[in-house]
Amino acid sequence: TEQQGAHTPMMGWSSWNQFHVGISEKIIKAQADALVASGMKAAGYRFINIDDGFFGGRDKDGNLLFNSKRFPAGMAAIARYIHSKGLSAGIYSDAGINTCGSYWDHDSISIGMGLYGHEKADLHRLLKEWGFDFIKVDWCGGDWLGLDEQTRYTEIGRLIQEIKPGALYNVCRWKFPGKWVVHIANSWRVSADISASFESILKIIDLNADLWPYSGPGHVNDMDMLQVGRGMSFEEDKAHFSMWCMLNSPLLAGNDLTRMSKETRSILTNREMIAINQDPLVYQARRLADYGDQEVWARPLKHTMSGEIAIALLNRSATKKNISFNMDDLSIDSKKGYTLHNIWEQKDIAITRQAVQSFEVPGHGVIVLIAKGVSLPYNVFQYATGKQP
Ligand code: GLA
Repeated sequence: TEQQGAHTPMMGWSSWNQFHVGISEKIIKAQADALVASGMKAAGYRFINIDDGFFGGRDKDGNLLFNSKRFPAGMAAIARYIHSKGLSAGIYSDAGINTCGSYWDHDSISIGMGLYGHEKADLHRLLKEWGFDFIKVDWCGGDWLGLDEQTRYTEIGRLIQEIKPGALYNVCRWKFPGKWVVHIANSWRVSADISASFESILKIIDLNADLWPYSGPGHVNDMDMLQVGRGMSFEEDKAHFSMWCMLNSPLLAGNDLTRMSKETRSILTNREMIAINQDPLVYQARRLADYGDQEVWARPLKHTMSGEIAIALLNRSATKKNISFNMDDLSIDSKKGYTLHNIWEQKDIAITRQAVQSFEVPGHGVIVLIAKGVSLPYNVFQYATGKQP
């Protein structure tokens, strides 16, 4: 069977937001255990991704080494451990000489732990010998070498498929890399690093808003690892998670899964939100109305003309606001009758023919609705995404 991430967005946990380069075998195993014990695996999370920090230099022949103090049993053993839990394993490298984290570790700059000059051998080690299923390839080292991004990432992508067909590939370039990336990677970052602030969340949403034509089955815009459970308010965390679901982002939890609050877990494991993110159509939500601080986002589910859509009402301001929309503008024929289901509040509106709906949305909050009705023949979503360029 196809790996998650090869069609719908990847879901899992990644080490960076919480631990930065301070990772270890013990930490990664505990997070894998917690992913299962917390119910996140059952909710659909499949990947444990090891980000920067596992490197241990190179031997005299240039072979890539892992940090054996932090990972005494080795990287192949940790990948096996992850696999033994029915999960997939992800790893990290860089297109240039150094990785991003090695800016703080001068030894590794001089040794060079990035792929540059070691492409084939490193990818073979990471994906085949060690057995990782996914690789995120950063660009910190590519920048100062003056490498051409498209050539570089295309060549790395080709090698990945040659060495391990079906392995998943993330391009981490801190901006939308360009249309070419759609053909070579499963996901690509569209922003610099996320932080646990609502400002950062809004910034990434805005950077991704117009990129919907590039998102589709098997290749999506990556809004970066989640900051749910890392300091924002409950409303902010819900808005953050909801928008990552609506916009087809990979869902990579970035919090310490061994110490999650009930609220954090309830957000990360919300089945109806996850179903939107994992919808087989993989249509990135579009901002269909923008009233300054109040926005209406929507995406069709299952099929562009199915008459089932997800709607997110996003309140960017700090105080509660009413947000209205006209169902006909979202391509559901109000005259034929439709229902509305409010996901976070678990409230339903029975069949109605009222075209205009209005909801009070908390400050820095969101309301997510599933509308079911009959699609209008001139459907705003009829242009399928993921076909470009
Ligand atoms: C960059 C990336 C982050 C993380 C670090 C690792 O900053 O954008 O997601 O991978 O490098 O050093």
